[in-house]
Amino acid sequence: MNTENNTNNKKIALKIEKLNKTLGKRHILHDIDIEAYEGEVFGFLGPNGAGKTTTIKIIVGLLSLDSGDISIGGYNINKNFEKALAGIGGIVENPEMYKHLTGRENLMQYARMRDGVTKERIDEVVELVGLTKRIDEKIKRYSLGMRQRLGVAQAILHRPKLLILDEPTNGLDPSGIKELRDILKKLAHEENICVMVSSHLMSEMELMCDRVGIIANGSIIGTYTIEEMINSNSNSNTEYVLEVDSTEKALSVIDDKYSPQIIDDTHFSLSIKSDENQKEGIYAVNKTLINSDIKLYTVTHKDNKSLEEVFIELTELGGKQID
Ligand SMILES: Nc1ncnc2c1ncn2[C@@H]1O[C@H](COP(=O)(O)OP(=O)(O)OP(=O)(O)O)[C@@H](O)[C@H]1O
Ligand SMILES: [Mg+2]
Repeated sequence: MNTENNTNNKKIALKIEKLNKTLGKRHILHDIDIEAYEGEVFGFLGPNGAGKTTTIKIIVGLLSLDSGDISIGGYNINKNFEKALAGIGGIVENPEMYKHLTGRENLMQYARMRDGVTKERIDEVVELVGLTKRIDEKIKRYSLGMRQRLGVAQAILHRPKLLILDEPTNGLDPSGIKELRDILKKLAHEENICVMVSSHLMSEMELMCDRVGIIANGSIIGTYTIEEMINSNSNSNTEYVLEVDSTEKALSVIDDKYSPQIIDDTHFSLSIKSDENQKEGIYAVNKTLINSDIKLYTVTHKDNKSLEEVFIELTELGGKQID
């Protein structure tokens, strides 16, 4: 798979090259390479313990790196730490908030620590995250979803080009997830920010992201657009389940090229290669069965693998390569 065509004209917001990190005696990150662009939601997808939080902590400056290079908006974090960090907004752990203050007071508190954040900018970010009506209420009355959105507002106050959120939908209900997803997409696609979001759920990434980088056991397995993942899935051979009066008889006549597999006495599966004409394949199988006096009752499509299954296969493959 190749992502060059989709990303050729975009400006790089984050570039990670050969990042390595050891914690204690464990080599946690192995030669991580990531390129993420302005204007996209980049999903950082991996199972628990894969190394997402560790990578994100290094990007936002909470942890040091052992070797490798990271640049943000063109500034290298080793050589130009302050300028690089000025280009990032992030929520790694729960955002620091004062519960007895209102949403607006919290943002103003935070704005004091940043240069050039005006009252108008506060109104603008509040509008962007959909909190205009509730911003003058105390935070202790906010739902988790509203707090998370206030966290996003805080993280983008200083107009960073890169917004990084570590598992931002954890704990949110479906409507909270949708609200946050819509906001993050808007920030990327309308405000031209690079939004990097980590998750362990492919289903969530599919709805939110333009591209995903998959990490397993501390190594990047690949970076794909969502379309590439869907296509890689549908390009595989098509599988069918056939119901007949006798699987045993059927398997004795079906050509091995269809890789027939017994399911039970009356069902078996077969696979027709993606480059073959599917209808002709089924017709040929059917003809063989009829000529052998085997009764065919039904032919059904075996469900294509879900993207979640593709992701699990990819990460398991990655795990095996590393061990
Ligand atoms: N301080 C530490 N010392 C030793 N090992 C650590 C330390 N912190 C994290 N690890 C290990 O590093 C690996 C990666 O952890 P990390 O938290 O980055 O994973 P993650 O992808 O964020 O997982 P999750 O989905 O559970 O949040 C894990 O095996 C973890 O146990
Ligand atoms: Mg984590």
